[in-house]
Amino acid sequence: MYDRIMTCTIIVGGFFGDEGKGKIVAHIAHQDRPTIIARGGVGPNAGHTVQVGDRQYGVRMVPSGFVYPDARLCIGAGVLVDPRVLLRELDEVHAQDRCFVDYRCGIIDEEHIARDKKSEHLRDTIGSTGTGCGPANADRVMRIGRLARDVPELAPYLLDVPAAVNAEIDGGAAVLIEGTQGFGISLYYGTYPFVTSKDTSASQMASDVGVGPTSIDDVVVVFKAYPTRVGEGPFSTEMGHDQSNALGIQEFGTVTHRERRIGCWDGEMARYSAMVNGCTQAAITGIDKVDPDCFGATEWSKLSTKARDFIRCAEDDIGRPVALISTGPELTQIVDLRAEYGD
Ligand code: GTP
Ligand code: IMP
Ligand code: MG
Repeated sequence: MYDRIMTCTIIVGGFFGDEGKGKIVAHIAHQDRPTIIARGGVGPNAGHTVQVGDRQYGVRMVPSGFVYPDARLCIGAGVLVDPRVLLRELDEVHAQDRCFVDYRCGIIDEEHIARDKKSEHLRDTIGSTGTGCGPANADRVMRIGRLARDVPELAPYLLDVPAAVNAEIDGGAAVLIEGTQGFGISLYYGTYPFVTSKDTSASQMASDVGVGPTSIDDVVVVFKAYPTRVGEGPFSTEMGHDQSNALGIQEFGTVTHRERRIGCWDGEMARYSAMVNGCTQAAITGIDKVDPDCFGATEWSKLSTKARDFIRCAEDDIGRPVALISTGPELTQIVDLRAEYGD
């Protein structure tokens, strides 16, 4: 534990989503002890996985920082809320008394979900998650549809999230801004049209929760040693099933349970994504897939030469230090070098 007071940190995905942001957010939260964890991103199309001991949680609306019990959890105005999903999750993780929703969040209703699932373009061509996000954001741009303040069930949770978050920043507390999705599926910078319905970069996450760029101290971009992609669209480093099976890698989506496509490290994409995100420090997850001997390691000295070489090469690509190295899905399976690199 070391002093990281007065930092406002954004955590975003550097590849195609599912990089393990949930795990990284949960770890940073336990170390930095933020008073608020605010979630940005598209909405319930995201699925963050957090494993604490033997318990695995998958959350789509509640910030994955919920596993740290001492923070208020906020959902920023830029995020689409599906009230049914949110209320169910709040019940499951018992976070009703500390979770808040900006009163300006857009709302996903049954009709948005039906449109998402029925549209051949969204369902088959793009391979959307079918969670209603695309149609709800389309309606939002057209300025039709409800906001959180219009939904009676959400009344107990409504908050002016920017006011709450900026008050904490001004008061010198640590604040985490949790991103969802990944750079490759950004509406602006991703592989259009095979993208989600919004930008996914760090600047978007700051805007989603109402924090200005001058208040951000750190941007942690999370990369997966073996990137994955769900849904359609180009994936230049994708490997065949034979290769991924030989490596023992198989993953399924948290939201749709679709099999994730697996690829090799993409240095060019990592560099570009770090640039647009304004990366200050990178995190790499799944180093145990590069070398299974590293599984569960918590110190740099316990990582194998193969793993260290991988990280050094990744650092050259990214152009920033890799300060967090995840060695397994569980919360404590991580090497945290942030103190060495400083702020
Ligand atoms: P989105 O917000 O939907 O983009 O998801 P995410 O970035 O939070 O990632 P998600 O939880 O969907 O997927 C990451 C998967 O990798 C989960 O199953 C995690 O439990 C797992 N995971 C995270 N870190 C590691 C790691 O270091 N090693 C291994 N083996 N698995 C990991
Ligand atoms: P939509 O966001 O549901 O419209 O889906 C558009 C594309 O983004 C599809 O390829 C989805 O698989 C992908 N996508 C959306 N959210 C996530 C996510 O959180 N992780 C990974 N892929 C996602
Ligand atoms: Mg996910």
